[in-house]
Amino acid sequence: MLNSSKFCMEKIELKRKKLDASGRLIISIDVSSKSEVIRMCREIDNKVKTLKLGLELIYSTGPDIISIVKSFGYKVLLDAKLHDIPNTVCKAAAAISKLGVEMITIHTLGGGVMLKNAREKICELSISSGMFPPMLLGVTILTSLDDSDLKNLGFKNGYKTSVLNLVEAALNSNLDGIICSPNEVKLIRKTYGNNFFIATPGIRLSEDSPADQKRFSTPDEAILDGADFIIVGRSITGKDNISETIDVFLEKIKKVSKK
Ligand code: C5P
Repeated sequence: MLNSSKFCMEKIELKRKKLDASGRLIISIDVSSKSEVIRMCREIDNKVKTLKLGLELIYSTGPDIISIVKSFGYKVLLDAKLHDIPNTVCKAAAAISKLGVEMITIHTLGGGVMLKNAREKICELSISSGMFPPMLLGVTILTSLDDSDLKNLGFKNGYKTSVLNLVEAALNSNLDGIICSPNEVKLIRKTYGNNFFIATPGIRLSEDSPADQKRFSTPDEAILDGADFIIVGRSITGKDNISETIDVFLEKIKKVSKK
């Protein structure tokens, strides 16, 4: 029998080798109608390879929006943020496996059994239908939370230790990578190395407003510290000149990727 976890790890190496700036910048499409999505797909003009579709959009339009985005030539990161008991998440992961997305997010706070079962199910179903399994990325501590929020929620540790613990859970469960804020990328790489992907939301140009993000940084810093992907929403989609703003991000990524 094909070892599905090993199959997934080999996929990480292949993918990283192929990443260029347009593959590293992921744009978050946080809108609620099909027409807005189509307008965004056109405006972005395939300057990036992957668009992130999340809760607002999927609950507004239904999952059919995924094939519409794919018809424009984009890959899809489905920000499903799976978090429930292992049985429920495993069955949801099985259903998502049929949607043909490139990446899926899952909350590491759901624990090791939930993560492992989802990982295995996704690999199993993809391999049996002859497809590369989608990357499974573990969300650690949301970028909208800081140490005082964690303290109020009863966390014993601040975000740095909490994120490290959750990365360990993700890696022990053979996830392809994790989602964290740019602020802890360096520490995660130093602690756990390079054999997994890191994607960071909470990205802003220095002149942008952080809005609800509390742990954020610039695209250059995130990449320099070791992020593979940066996920950007309002700093691009909230601008009047989306196309030019994407060029600014791509240029910044290219510059620091050479170092
Ligand atoms: O507009 P902005 O760049 O802040 O959007 C960030 C996107 O990344 C949102 O869609 C949000 O749901 C998502 N995200 C996040 N923090 C995480 C995981 C995902 O902000 N930890």
